[in-house]
Amino acid sequence: MLVTNRQFKTGVISNIKLLMALIAILFTVPVSAFEDDEGCLICHKYPMMGRVTDDGVLRSYYVLPHVFSRTVHRNVPCRDCHSYIKEIPHRPVKEGVTCNQECHSVKNPATGANFSHKHIYDAYIESTHGRKKQASGNDADKPYCINCHTNPLYNPGESGPPAHIADRCVVCHEKREFVERWYNHTSRRIRDVRRSSQDIIELCSTCHGDKELVDRHIKQAEEEGRELGRKFPIAVETYKDSFHGKLTQLGFGKTASCLDCHARKKDYFKSVHEIRPSRDPASPTHKDNKLETCQQCHVYADENYIALDPHPSSNKDDNVFRYYAEKIYNIIAVSVIIMLIGMSLLETVGRRRDGVAWRLRQGSTWRRKSSRGRDRIN
Ligand code: HEC
Ligand code: HEC
Ligand code: HEC
Ligand code: HEC
Ligand code: HEC
Ligand code: HEC
Ligand code: HEC
Repeated sequence: MLVTNRQFKTGVISNIKLLMALIAILFTVPVSAFEDDEGCLICHKYPMMGRVTDDGVLRSYYVLPHVFSRTVHRNVPCRDCHSYIKEIPHRPVKEGVTCNQECHSVKNPATGANFSHKHIYDAYIESTHGRKKQASGNDADKPYCINCHTNPLYNPGESGPPAHIADRCVVCHEKREFVERWYNHTSRRIRDVRRSSQDIIELCSTCHGDKELVDRHIKQAEEEGRELGRKFPIAVETYKDSFHGKLTQLGFGKTASCLDCHARKKDYFKSVHEIRPSRDPASPTHKDNKLETCQQCHVYADENYIALDPHPSSNKDDNVFRYYAEKIYNIIAVSVIIMLIGMSLLETVGRRRDGVAWRLRQGSTWRRKSSRGRDRIN
């Protein structure tokens, strides 16, 4: 079994970079807050602003300016997302923010067009998880963008570029604010801030490990005559039983996490939004694509190797061989233990009859009289 060296190296290098960046925090300058052109924060900056909804859920309505100004969305005006707010003071809000909207204030510098996440959305909506923002019934179980993404901080723990870098950019670009903005944008993406294997497993398990949710969908699929993958009911528990799952739980991050198999390594950041069931020929878990998927790490994998089940289970319907093998091993294991205990008992009884007494302190002794006249004391 081989894992390419490159993977390990990039991991180490990015860790060193991260460490250097963390050290550099000590020398940083504070970032100026974003501009609240629309005046939303006149009301929304007050901590504790919120209310308890009719269903008894506490909703927070405050946005802390010094925190928001360090998030990846800080240059997006509130109403580019909350576009349903048309006047101030505004009416009670009914709709939510959808992530396929066009920004009216932020342009994509590469294309010059209004920026939007629409092409991610288009891939996502075609995927097995695709759903509308306002979803009901079983569709509501599927993850929308904000189930997986909050509004992350640019480089957490760092409030701006290290001075020695910023100074160098400023010497040409003159405006420090420009430099800080671009530094934050690029440095976050260059660093390996993506989720760890453990985080990915936790994310997918919140739903795929939720028995009630899974059962709901099996029932619904049956009613609709729809097919679900044969591992759908047991995806998480069987992964955790697998070699990959165990190693990951032990903290070895280079084994396969859910997304290493269910998304493609090439174009990874788009591919994670295109998860499809294994019966779909476009899925990296489809039988025709499995070889390529496993070979990303197991360079010498062949057809026999990929026949090994990444979701191994000893369920009778799922794998008859494993089921009986486990049964037989269990019988053998139990018999061996019974025989061991039996032998010890026989031996003990035999010795007792030969005049060996039991004592807790000072060990056993030979000073007892044998009931069979085989007394060891002369
Ligand atoms: C005059 C004060 C004021 C201003 C200015 C204001 N809001 Fe509000 N906002 C409120 C109050 C009060 C609530 C709580 C309303 C409620 O509980 O029904 C609220 C609630 C909200 C909610 C949550 C509503 C819900 O039920 O989910 C959003 C989103 C929101 N505001 C966005 C904005 C945005 C974006 C702006 C700027 C364009 C803005 N607000 C400007 C007072 C204000
Ligand atoms: C990148 C898009 C984006 C930007 C920019 C943004 N928000 Fe939001 N905001 C959201 C999302 C998504 C939610 C979660 C509720 C939802 O899904 O509709 C939310 C929730 C809220 C809520 C709570 C509403 C609730 O239903 O619980 C308030 C209040 C709010 N935002 C105010 C603001 C203010 C004020 C600003 C500007 C400083 C702002 N938002 C900027 C996307 C955004
Ligand atoms: C099932 C969870 C899930 C859903 C749903 C999801 N994403 Fe993602 N997204 C991810 C993962 C995983 C990554 C890879 C980066 C990481 O590991 O954090 C990612 C990466 C991204 C990135 C790149 C971020 C960066 O800084 O490199 C963007 C942008 C993004 N997603 C937007 C969206 C949008 C828009 C939607 C809704 C249409 C969406 N995502 C739905 C899990 C999800
Ligand atoms: C020696 C001078 C010099 C230094 C140092 C320098 N830049 Fe530049 N930068 C330029 C010039 C000239 C351009 C425009 C020409 C081009 O696109 O190649 C530019 C373009 C850019 C652009 C593209 C702007 C746009 O809208 O197209 C960004 C972003 C940028 N620089 C960021 C930085 C950052 C961040 C640093 C520090 C790490 C930096 N630069 C250091 C000279 C410099
Ligand atoms: C918010 C809950 C949620 C999260 C998080 C989630 N899923 Fe799903 N997933 C679902 C639901 C619901 C279905 C659809 C079942 C159906 O079609 O009825 C599904 C379907 C699937 C399917 C196709 C099942 C089939 O047989 O058709 C795969 C594969 C899958 N998810 C993998 C993942 C992976 C990998 C992750 C982690 C990145 C993940 N899911 C995260 C809820 C979730
Ligand atoms: C080593 C690769 C690999 C890893 C890691 C992996 N899977 Fe799978 N997964 C597969 C393959 C291949 C199938 C198809 C199995 C079959 O039916 O033979 C599958 C099937 C599934 C299914 C059933 C639907 C379908 O597409 O057939 C779900 C749901 C699923 N996996 C979720 C997960 C989750 C959640 C994780 C992480 C906890 C995970 N997988 C980790 C390769 C993997
Ligand atoms: C992201 C990389 C990655 C992917 C993709 C991946 N594996 Fe693995 N796998 C590993 C690592 C790392 C180990 C354990 C390290 C070792 O054995 O030295 C491992 C171990 C295994 C083992 C345990 C026995 C052995 O050979 O060491 C099996 C079986 C296995 N993988 C099967 C698969 C199959 C089948 C696929 C494709 C469906 C797959 N793997 C995809 C990284 C991966």
